Amino acid sequence: MGSDSNYVAELFDLTDRVVLVTGGSRGLGREMAFAAARCGADVVIASRKFDACAATAEEITAATGRAALAYQVHVGRWDELDGLVDAAYDRFGKVDVLINNAGMSPLYESLGSVTEKLFDSVVNLNLKGPFRLSTLVGERMVAAGGGSIINVSSSGSRRPRPEQLPYSAAKAGLNALTEGLALAFGPTVRVNTLMPGPFLTDVSKAWDIPATEKGAQHFALKRLGQPAEIIGAALFLASDASSYTSGSIIRADGGMP
Ligand SMILES: NC(=O)c1ccc[n+]([C@@H]2O[C@H](COP(=O)([O-])OP(=O)(O)OC[C@H]3O[C@@H](n4cnc5c(N)ncnc54)[C@H](OP(=O)(O)O)[C@@H]3O)[C@@H](O)[C@H]2O)c1
Repeated sequence: MGSDSNYVAELFDLTDRVVLVTGGSRGLGREMAFAAARCGADVVIASRKFDACAATAEEITAATGRAALAYQVHVGRWDELDGLVDAAYDRFGKVDVLINNAGMSPLYESLGSVTEKLFDSVVNLNLKGPFRLSTLVGERMVAAGGGSIINVSSSGSRRPRPEQLPYSAAKAGLNALTEGLALAFGPTVRVNTLMPGPFLTDVSKAWDIPATEKGAQHFALKRLGQPAEIIGAALFLASDASSYTSGSIIRADGGMP
């Protein structure tokens, strides 16, 4: 007897839901936006570069037939976030899933060379922006009767490394935000952390790949992640498949010790 494909499709069904992905133009965000549309969702693709968002949005619509709205925004700027949320609600009337995915960790020479500007920009993007977006969207989700918020953190939040310390601290703050927001918006809205380990996206261009691969030999799966390998965990958290999961951390890190 074969598998029941309807059963699987229904479990992860996102038909006519609206999924807003910050940093949806490339990397893990692009993978998650495509996957959501493949499960039936309309999507909002937001990042700093409008053309990149528009290109991804067009590709998603061409591949899936779902609507995709491109929106230019700097997630680290508090005042720009109302505009993003308004644009999503104006276009689609709702947001069912918010994926706070945009993030970055600029390189620096030494801890002493970290400037206040760099520190603030890292905290603004990885922590402040997700807080503001979650509160704007979460309250509307509660009023609408449901929703799921996914905060994309990092294994660095649990294993802070000196070369990514402001980032690790900001992502640890994001983990805390998840737990508090889950309590604030529950039982109507679920809020979870998706915690990636090292994935081979654009960020990996700055890595010493042989050294990183060597480090990954300590992982249970002994390798780095391919971008598409984020999809399963993201769809679990986005869909009703995770209906009894909130305030949690789902790791997608190859079994990092
Ligand atoms: N890849 C990894 O190994 C890894 C590991 C742990 C955690 N993560 C986390 O996973 C998330 C995605 O990472 P990724 O590897 O997919 O990164 P990526 O390939 O560099 O993509 C980052 C995305 O975020 C957008 N973005 C960057 N700064 C932004 C800003 N200020 N405002 C709005 N959008 C912005 C980028 O578009 P624009 O340039 O157009 O703005 C792009 O769409 C991040 O939160 C990252 O911290 C990644």
